[in-house]
Amino acid sequence: MLLEFTLNGKKQQISDVPGHQSLLHLLRNKLEMLGTKEGCGVGECGACTVLLDGEPVNACLVPAWKVQGREVITIEGVSSGENLHPVQEAFIDAGAIQCGYCTPGMVLSTYSLLKRSPDPADQEIKTALAGNLCRCTGYKDILDAVHLAADKMREGGND
Ligand code: FES
Ligand code: FES
Repeated sequence: MLLEFTLNGKKQQISDVPGHQSLLHLLRNKLEMLGTKEGCGVGECGACTVLLDGEPVNACLVPAWKVQGREVITIEGVSSGENLHPVQEAFIDAGAIQCGYCTPGMVLSTYSLLKRSPDPADQEIKTALAGNLCRCTGYKDILDAVHLAADKMREGGND
């Protein structure tokens, strides 16, 4: 099939997309969006999180054809050129990254959360990130990073 959608603000037209292909494999194998990680491959770890029309989804569970006419944002679309997004800066500043495998998904889930809730409480953050697993950090630093990101975004009026 011919697939047309918007990826990180740019129109994409991709021919011969197999009907069974996942969005994760389309992004990684065809479009070289390697920031989107493959962990479990079955919807349990959140490493493959991307935003579909602004909402976090597990790209391993989304058939590629489902993004027809829609908007996908990957971690590559969050920064602005050389400048990291405040959510990315906050994860670094809070020391919320160790191996980094979960980080793109964590950042995208946080980005989506802070768009709808600029000053979330701990429980709201835990709920929003419940689908993103981290085997390294113990989550405390991630919680701190989300609060720091919220502060940065409110101060900077940054989107
Ligand atoms: Fe998609 Fe784990 S790789 S949820
Ligand atoms: Fe290693 Fe989260 S930093 S899985």
